[in-house]
Amino acid sequence: MRTPVIAGNWKLFKTIGEAIGLVKDLKPLVAGTKGVEIIVAPVFTALGRVADELAGSNILLAAQDCYWEEEGAFTGEVAPGMLKDAGCSHVIIGHSERRQYFGETDVTVNKKVKAAINAGLTAIVCVGETLAEREADKTFAIIETQLWGGLEGLAPEAFSKVVVAYEPVWAIGTGKTASDTQAQEVHAFIRSLIARCFSQESAAGLRILYGGSVKPDNIKELMAQPDIDGALVGGASLNSASFAAITNFAG
Ligand code: PGA
Repeated sequence: MRTPVIAGNWKLFKTIGEAIGLVKDLKPLVAGTKGVEIIVAPVFTALGRVADELAGSNILLAAQDCYWEEEGAFTGEVAPGMLKDAGCSHVIIGHSERRQYFGETDVTVNKKVKAAINAGLTAIVCVGETLAEREADKTFAIIETQLWGGLEGLAPEAFSKVVVAYEPVWAIGTGKTASDTQAQEVHAFIRSLIARCFSQESAAGLRILYGGSVKPDNIKELMAQPDIDGALVGGASLNSASFAAITNFAG
């Protein structure tokens, strides 16, 4: 069976001190949570210090982006191997905010995913349609293009190092969540696409997270859907009590 994943995407929030304060509060609240992979993704500058604070806990560390080269004259970038060195096990790739504001494309997502996996990280690959695309009935076509473009060339075995996050852009930070049925429909489509393009086994084992205004009061219904294997949480991950309540969805 697929172990659920609850990942907190802190975006551009929290100084080092605030980040450490948050994980100090969070640790005891989730220490008893079994059978859930819990991940937090602070800003780059806080990764090393948060990694030290997380040592020995059941919380894993992710970065919010990476570059695809291992090293070189690429001012401002951070390599996957360097994230691993800082204590990360995961990296978020292709978040819609990066696609929208920083020129991320399916081509760059693909390069980053491959580089992350080569460095031994698990890639949390984000896909999702805008409101205009949903209203134009293009949701499935967009998801297919993003997934195919982002994951092209991966060997079926590489899927043990991939998590997909479906985040409808219209639901991010808006307080509008996709209904359980809307989310389930896209998750099932993603799984069938992976089965068709890669392998049945890759698809069956793949964790597909939902993201977009996930809160303590909607996580239970989302997790009850057969193809929703967890959540990528923005706003509600910035507070230890609400993030812990989401990770403890089963309790
Ligand atoms: P939100 O963000 O939970 O604040 O909607 C989710 C995300 O962007 O990953």
